Amino acid sequence: MPDREERFRVMIDTVEAVTDPTPRVLDLACGTGSITDRLLRRLPGAHSTCVDIDPALLTIARGHFAGDERVTFAEADVTRPTWTEHLPHASYDAGATAQRFALLGDPRQPKPDGGARRDRPTATRWHLETLRGQGFSEARQVWCSASDALVAALR
Ligand SMILES: C[S@@+](CC[C@H](N)C(=O)[O-])C[C@H]1O[C@@H](n2cnc3c(N)ncnc32)[C@H](O)[C@@H]1O
Repeated sequence: MPDREERFRVMIDTVEAVTDPTPRVLDLACGTGSITDRLLRRLPGAHSTCVDIDPALLTIARGHFAGDERVTFAEADVTRPTWTEHLPHASYDAGATAQRFALLGDPRQPKPDGGARRDRPTATRWHLETLRGQGFSEARQVWCSASDALVAALR
């Protein structure tokens, strides 16, 4: 994805803008831990919990961050109501994800306005409305390219 690094940069910019320099961050649907990698390079005082449903990807992430006490891991399906029971901490300063559907609902059921359709990757209206409906304020799109978009929301 051509704009991947720029998206990471804006994502970490956003975390940095709303937290102190030592935030506790959730890397949701972390895969091999790409977001956490960029986070810790920018904010060395940060701590991250990497969460993913895929044990194979978590194994790769554990290897990548081996010996780094700032990083913890949790295997969980974040669409399940009980997924937070797998986390090592009760609260976090920020959450970051590059998985547009995992947090917000079932990707197999796109909303009528098409905002979550895979063929319209930069349409974020549905995502913003869903975040606001779940109690987030100031939900807005903070970055967009020809093929990707990033939203941020504050509680
Ligand atoms: C596009 S990858 C993003 C990985 C990483 N954040 C990155 O930017 O490279 C999406 C990740 O979401 C994970 N995932 C998908 N559904 C999930 C769910 N319900 N709960 C937890 N993780 C999920 C996949 O296993 C995969 O690692």
